[in-house]
This record gives sequence, C-alpha cells and structure tokens, in this order.
Amino acid sequence: MSALFPVIAIDGPSASGKGTVASRVAQTLGFHYLDSGALYRLTALASRRSGIPVSAQAQEFEPAIAQCAAHLDVRFEGEHIYLQGEDVSLAIRDEQTSREASRVAALGSVRTALLQRQRAFRQAPGLVTDGRDMATVVFPDADLKIFLTASAEERAQRRYKQLIEKGLTAMMSDLLNDIRERDERDASREHAPLVQDSRAGLLDTTYLTADAAVAEVLRRYQLVVSRDCV
Ligand code: CDP
Repeated sequence: MSALFPVIAIDGPSASGKGTVASRVAQTLGFHYLDSGALYRLTALASRRSGIPVSAQAQEFEPAIAQCAAHLDVRFEGEHIYLQGEDVSLAIRDEQTSREASRVAALGSVRTALLQRQRAFRQAPGLVTDGRDMATVVFPDADLKIFLTASAEERAQRRYKQLIEKGLTAMMSDLLNDIRERDERDASREHAPLVQDSRAGLLDTTYLTADAAVAEVLRRYQLVVSRDCV
C-alpha cells in the first residue's frame, strides 16, 4: 500500500458502469468517492452559463473555460451536486452537457486546472474514484487500478435505462452514436487519453451484473490488502 491514504482507481469508457461500481465499493469500504467526470460536466455547465459557447469550437475559448474550471463553486453532498448553491445533479447528466463535457475534457489547461481539486479528495480512510485518467495521471500510485469496460451496445442500453429512470427522454440509436463518438474522442485526444494503465486489471462487465462487478473489485482490493500485510 502507498504511504498516503489508499486509492482505488477505476477508469473506463462512457457508460461502462464505473460510477455505480465505484460508489458502491466506496460505500462498502466506508471510503470517500470522487466522480471525476462530474467535474468536467460541471465545467461544461458553468462555462455555458457564463455565455461561453462550449458546443462549437471549445478550443478557441480554452482560457475562459479553464478559468471556469479553476473557480468552480461546487459542493458534493451524497448523491447531490451543487453549483453555486443550486442542485445540478440532473442538469449535468443531460446529453448536451455529456457532449460538452467530453469537449472541455480534451483541453489541456482545463485538466490542469482540475488536477489538485481531484487529488484533494484523497482523505482518510481512503478514496474510490472513477474517470478516464485516474490511474494514469491523477493517482498514478493508486493501490488498486481497474479498467472497467463493456461493449458499446451494452453501454448504450445501460445509459438508456438510466435516462428513462430519471424521467428523461432518449433514443437508443442516438445514444449508441454518442457513445461511439465519445469513445473515439476520449481515446484519441492529446491530453490524458483513455488508455488502460500498465498496472490496471481489466474488468469486462458486458455480461456481469453491477453486484458481481462490485464483488470482483472488493475481491481484488482484499488481495492487495492481504498482500501488503504479509
Ligand atoms: O462516462 P460518461 O461519459 O457517462 O461520463 P463521465 O464519466 O461523467 O465523464 C464526462 C466526460 O468527462 C467524458 O466524456 C470524458 O471525456 C471526461 N472525463 C475525462 O476526460 N477524465 C476523467 N477523469 C473523467 C471524465
């Protein structure tokens, strides 16, 4: 184990279920939980609300978007996320914000602006975090690294169910296209592309229930703990 508080880093593509798995693992272990994608979503929403056109050429507005990222007034409270005191837990999950989050996340100075904020979540007794670069960039010394994935079709199905349950509308074909587009952008971008860290173990959840995926992460973590106790 590292000298600092332990970190379990779970990375993977869009809608692979890493958020569900990571938050449940955190709950079981009594660890803190960081949904790093929420910070990119919040940056997109805050930028749009400040009148910065994130949908178009986000690159042109990189300095302004990075300013927004650096000054995010955000509070995480259980499942709720507040931006300037307003509960935006639902607003940051809509499809427009999802697309825009992927665009702002490709900007190097936005990522730099969010780095320390993410590392500050590493507190006693430990942290479970999910994203794209938790194992490669933000917590390279994480105690356990998992690359959690599922087929694009299965991920689109899960996203569809999630949106419908929240009372939002969605089309399966649009969701599948969006997921493929986002995969491509996440994997091919210059800054912190989505890649499996050399120390990350693969966890393919295409045919696994969330319960089984949670159990598998906990099993791998117990192996790390018992190895370090010998
Ligand atoms: O997984 P999903 O696309 O549903 O969303 P998310 O995990 O909330 O992430 C939103 C966006 O932020 C993604 O499109 C990623 O491009 C980006 N992201 C990132 O670049 N780095 C992270 N550590 C987390 C998210």
